[in-house]
Amino acid sequence: MTSPTPTTSPSASTKPHALWGGRFASGPDAVFRAINDSLPFDWRLVRQDIAGSRAWAAALGGAGVLTAAEVAELDAALVALDAEAAALPGPPVESEAEDVHTWVEQKLIAALGPLGKKLHTGRSRNDQVATDLRLWTRAAIDERIGELVELQRALARLAERELAPEGDADNPTPFPGYTHLQPAQPVLLAHWALAHVEAFARDADRLTDARARLNRCPLGSAALAGTAYPIDRDAIARDLGFDAPTANSMDGVADRDFAVETLAAAALCATHLSRLGEELIVYSTREFGMVEMEDAVTSGSSIMPQKKNPDACELLRGKAGRIIAAHTGLLITLKGLPFAYNKDLQEDKEPLFEGLDQLGLCLRIAARVIDGCTFDRDACRRAALAGFANATELADYLVERGVPFRDAHEQVGALVRVALERGVTLEDLTLEEIRARAPKAGEEVFARLTLDATLAKRGVVGGTGPGRVRQALEATKTRLG
Ligand code: ARG
Repeated sequence: MTSPTPTTSPSASTKPHALWGGRFASGPDAVFRAINDSLPFDWRLVRQDIAGSRAWAAALGGAGVLTAAEVAELDAALVALDAEAAALPGPPVESEAEDVHTWVEQKLIAALGPLGKKLHTGRSRNDQVATDLRLWTRAAIDERIGELVELQRALARLAERELAPEGDADNPTPFPGYTHLQPAQPVLLAHWALAHVEAFARDADRLTDARARLNRCPLGSAALAGTAYPIDRDAIARDLGFDAPTANSMDGVADRDFAVETLAAAALCATHLSRLGEELIVYSTREFGMVEMEDAVTSGSSIMPQKKNPDACELLRGKAGRIIAAHTGLLITLKGLPFAYNKDLQEDKEPLFEGLDQLGLCLRIAARVIDGCTFDRDACRRAALAGFANATELADYLVERGVPFRDAHEQVGALVRVALERGVTLEDLTLEEIRARAPKAGEEVFARLTLDATLAKRGVVGGTGPGRVRQALEATKTRLG
């Protein structure tokens, strides 16, 4: 049996590959390069790659593989390269390098000659890329957490403004509370704002959790089996700000859980932003008329002169789809992969970058939108009162008068029907009308049906009673510093 002759496609380059030319008769095919090269997108890891390379050079020095003079020379060249890379506007398109790790190595070799060729001793692009990506994700998490804090601060400012409105400080702005988007019970606008703060606080917590698990250093795992040199992995981890080295070299290069977890937190945060955006879209319609967004975050129509469209909020809703897709897409990339490294893993970068970039944009615009929202207090009050939102309050009042809740519910339901037939609110009914369906009702029932009375009753922990909301706001402000 004869072994098949290796073929060379007509578009293959005759120039051998820079990293593994030795074993190959031809260079890569042009289409192969188009699918295989990652420099156009992994260029974003260049600073991390250089930082990791500096740490690796120092570790090789510590292991006695390089002399102190060689380490110093490599380090100086890497520092210079870092400045050069930072000054470039984007990926160096003229470069032959297939990825960012190759680019860094080629530049070092060009600058230092044979010494540049020593840096890759005992390391692999597999542990390199795993390290770079962790460093990048860690920095992105820190930025997103900062933006989450700013967004929570904007919501807390809104709560503060509406708890003691200018010129009417004793009358916190009421707001309609909905279930099924049908009027349910009145709340305070500040309570609504702080509800969203809770969700964003959990998002920040989740990112913080992900960051803690992420903060392990894969360098020293090499291709998959662990480096053959006596590298001090604790020292190199510390050097790069990691808490410890990864515990298993195969896991070290195969694991992308940190990216999945971070994107999961991002997807959930994007979902929260989308829900907030949707609410503002609805509440700013002419039909609801409760809030107006600033011109600077809305757009007009090219044909309809009267239009003011809530584009920023619509994009909060729309971008959530992409961010969720980034998370889902990465999981799908990972699910069939045998250990340890596979080239599929190169597909981790674009969703990770995209998901976290888009989330950053969403968080920044959301804070901007909230700061610029003007709530129409009269419209909010009208909406808070509308739709028999005090019906539960009337039932609770009857319970106080000794009526079992289920009976009270029935009686109030009947009163709602009477009011609907007459086209009035519950408090517009006469005492006789009320007593006809709810015999235990007394004169004081009307006082109990006011908006203020309804709100004041809800002083339970986590409730919308004004005193409780003031406490919640203070706690939030203390937490946010
Ligand atoms: N560009 C590659 C990636 O992003 C780097 C690792 C390449 N490793 C390899 N064994 N081919 O995954």
